Amino acid sequence: MARKRVAILISGRGSNMAALIEAARAPDYPAEIALVISNRPDAAGLAHAAEAGIRTTVVDHTEFTDRPAFEAALTERLEAAGVDLVCHAGFMRIVTAGYVDRWRDRLINIHPSLLPSFPGLNTHARALDAGVKVHGCTVHFVRTAVDDGPIIAQAEVPVLAGDTPESLAARVLAAEHRLYPEALARVAAGKVQVVDERVVLSA
Ligand code: GRF
Repeated sequence: MARKRVAILISGRGSNMAALIEAARAPDYPAEIALVISNRPDAAGLAHAAEAGIRTTVVDHTEFTDRPAFEAALTERLEAAGVDLVCHAGFMRIVTAGYVDRWRDRLINIHPSLLPSFPGLNTHARALDAGVKVHGCTVHFVRTAVDDGPIIAQAEVPVLAGDTPESLAARVLAAEHRLYPEALARVAAGKVQVVDERVVLSA
């Protein structure tokens, strides 16, 4: 089966992007990384992607009057690159219905909590405040509500005595770097279906 063409959208460091690029080096991985787009010209991940030989481009959201105009520019680049799937990886923009519908069930995000707990920002500090004993990360299809949408995969990590938001974030991030490539592989291999807004996995 032909490998699916994937674009990764970033805003910053790009460590999840790097994990996806690394996984896609394997000859039997069902996806190839065709393009990395950043909405921020100074995103550190851009240099890493370029070093890895991946085409990069910047679509700077500050140059557009509103979200739909920015998203139309994104879609234009994605279509020009012949992309099948779009992975948000630390992409810090709220998206609107036109973009979500254009890429429906082909648009994936990773979030650093066990959704539906702790959508939004500062998830690790909020998990510590809440006193949860298990925390983790979620890969899901994107919908217009922030950090919402059919859940593809989750990984849990323990919350340990003495954890700080930073120590917990590092433990979750290591889990993210394992989870996202696994989840993308399943989607790219056609093993993930959305039925009634829930994901059904096949072997
Ligand atoms: C990750 O924790 C991701 O889940 C969240 O933002 C962080 C991005 O990190 N949405 P990186 O840019 O992938 O290193």
